[in-house]
Amino acid sequence: MKTRFSQGKARFLEAVESDLPSRSPSQRSRVSRSSLMALGHELSQAPDANRILAELSLSALTNNYRSIAEQVKGLAILPMVKANAYGHDLSWVCETLSNESNLYGFGVATLEEGERVRRTLGPRKHKLPIIVFSGATPWSIEAEDFCASYGLTPVIGSYESWNEFVKLKSSKRLGYEIKFNTGMNRLGIPFELATQVLSQIQKLEMPAPHGVLSHLACAEEPDHSVSHQQLKRFRVLRREVLSRFSQSFLHLGNSAAIWKAKQWELTELTDVVRPGLALYGIVPFAGAPRRGLEPVLRLKARVLTVGKLKAGESIGYGAQFKHSSGATAPLPYAIIGAGYADGVLRSLSSVGQVRVVSERAGGKKLGQTTEFNGRILGRVSMDMIAVECSKTTQPGDWAELIGPELDLWAQAALAGTIPYELLTSLSIRVPRNYVASF
Ligand SMILES: Cc1ncc(COP(=O)(O)O)c(C=O)c1O
Repeated sequence: MKTRFSQGKARFLEAVESDLPSRSPSQRSRVSRSSLMALGHELSQAPDANRILAELSLSALTNNYRSIAEQVKGLAILPMVKANAYGHDLSWVCETLSNESNLYGFGVATLEEGERVRRTLGPRKHKLPIIVFSGATPWSIEAEDFCASYGLTPVIGSYESWNEFVKLKSSKRLGYEIKFNTGMNRLGIPFELATQVLSQIQKLEMPAPHGVLSHLACAEEPDHSVSHQQLKRFRVLRREVLSRFSQSFLHLGNSAAIWKAKQWELTELTDVVRPGLALYGIVPFAGAPRRGLEPVLRLKARVLTVGKLKAGESIGYGAQFKHSSGATAPLPYAIIGAGYADGVLRSLSSVGQVRVVSERAGGKKLGQTTEFNGRILGRVSMDMIAVECSKTTQPGDWAELIGPELDLWAQAALAGTIPYELLTSLSIRVPRNYVASF
């Protein structure tokens, strides 16, 4: 199917080609394996290197991309890879998805993240747009130079930035996108100034914006009064844009909006969607249907030692968990090699769920795994957690904190947060291990 995106893409690629710049293709080299390792992205040879692991499933990531594309057939996909691809691994996610069809580009928050994506993609993909969402606000000559050097497409996100962008004549060197504030009141040029700004582009004979976008405050609630206002304004904005710039792409929807694509009229009003959370296999709101999503990340930590807590004994900092004084049997526990320095939030203390997986009993390989679903006992400390386990749990077994068998929305609720925070908190200390599938 010929979409506005596929028709416009060819035109855009020519424009980007001329924007891309000062750095020769050979300078835009791929990130080397050794520098990935320096960032903690490859397994070290240290004997305790697999004390904690984040396993990343290639098939889950590509399946999720395709399931999302299927839901909004005909629209282009702009994977949001900010915050190290929601804690997964920005380089790996970009490399994995870079050959998918209907790929609009990659979305990052900061200029620095944009640079990392560009280095990862290398010369082979130098035409693929990298859209910088918040890092290009406020606009400056330094931001312009940086975007020109790395072939980044800034989102102009405030009226002050817009004026600076025009004053510096940045559009002569760069493709750009404009964000309008339709009611979220975070970033964006006020909606009321849309006609003025769009006419200014014409009057000054600036190149058309590559994209025009807005962001939704209550994407999972299209019936919210703010949503009604945002949708109404976006319809007007779209008319204003397309009456002047038929080649500009429009985008609005994140994961939750994709799940409610009909109510948001995404296929009628927009050309592109911007999935983040759903791409990583987590449903966009608690209780949402899976629609083929599979979690991409499994976070697991080794059992370092096991013990039995006697009646009346406590465990960990602050003696926060105490085995009941009246208990008739000791409580088996395992100490696992994960803590808040790895990104396991301290607010999971005493409430977080873990799945302890044993492959052995009495030191012998079982040939089959046994599982135990338990709770974190007491406080999460920097490098360790105590968890409930079974009598057969052994040092060397694994305890999973995130993964296909655990509900991340439920886990987040126990910690008083959302899955976004659990994922983006994963620290650089956690080695990533890349697997074909789980
Ligand atoms: C502008 C913008 N678009 C899209 C997304 C992706 O949102 P989600 O992860 O809910 O799909 C974000 C994430 O915060 C965002 O800031």
